[in-house]
Amino acid sequence: RNISLIGVPIDLGADRRGVDMGPDAIRSAGVLHKLEQLGYVVHDQGNLTVSRKALEQAATGEKLKYLAETITVNAKLAKMTADEMGRGRFPLALGGDHSMAIGTVKGVLHHIDRLGLLWFDAHCDANTAETTPSGNIHGMPLAVCLGYGHELLTGIGGRKRKIRPENVVIIGARSVDPGERSLLKELGIRVFTMHDIDRRGMERVMEEALERLAKSDGVHLSFDVDGMDPNDAPGVGTPVMGGVTYRESHLAMELLSDSGLLVSAEFVEINPVLDDRNKTAKAAVEMIGSVFGEQIM
Ligand code: ARG
Ligand code: MN
Ligand code: MN
Ligand code: MN
Repeated sequence: RNISLIGVPIDLGADRRGVDMGPDAIRSAGVLHKLEQLGYVVHDQGNLTVSRKALEQAATGEKLKYLAETITVNAKLAKMTADEMGRGRFPLALGGDHSMAIGTVKGVLHHIDRLGLLWFDAHCDANTAETTPSGNIHGMPLAVCLGYGHELLTGIGGRKRKIRPENVVIIGARSVDPGERSLLKELGIRVFTMHDIDRRGMERVMEEALERLAKSDGVHLSFDVDGMDPNDAPGVGTPVMGGVTYRESHLAMELLSDSGLLVSAEFVEINPVLDDRNKTAKAAVEMIGSVFGEQIM
């Protein structure tokens, strides 16, 4: 019943600034109150330090943008996540751009070797240094967690720690780059696209997803708010039309909660600068409520 809240104010993995303010936007939207109401004891670790120096030296011509500082932040995050779990607390990381999933996942892998991963996202974030169309590291974390990509990234938290392809499901995908598609196909990763959600409904999609994840030893939720429809979650840097609705997202989180499989989570890519009166952070807090067991009656 102990939750460790870890703020990760990083925006170096994305092209648009502002997502570094996501953690505080989620706090303003009442995440502490929500969790305490549900009976949890929340230990807010504050925000990790992310150097802004790297931004001043932009356009150094390196292919992966801000690689050095992204590594530093993720190594710290991996350690903090592992430490907090070691103290018996549930790690809940707040972002920040999605590059931070490298740190949280590597940290959780320290305790759970056969970790399951539910990747809720409009994108698949499975690019490598070779396939990236943008050079943005937030488009790469899933590949890195699987052991693919720049060796300085896959080395974070230990090269041998990785997620097995059979323990990953992606939900909400609708913008996939060609290189990502080949890697995911080659690895046999189960991708539930918007097409699947349209045809089969979120309930059946989640049932199949959870059936697969039940074979792991615990599940990490990596929730990119741009997986939701931009009408419900407008405060994101890379919006894609036709996403998961507010209600479908709720249902997905409720079913995940009921499964009892969840061991850690992160909510990422909330950009208050692009938001509409903190609507996206508020939606994230509602999703956090559901995944931690909130019910209407
Ligand atoms: N696929 C694109 C890229 O590699 C966009 C990635 C967006 N990722 C995200 N976490 N919002 O640049
Ligand atoms: Mn995304
Ligand atoms: Mn993402
Ligand atoms: Mn609900």
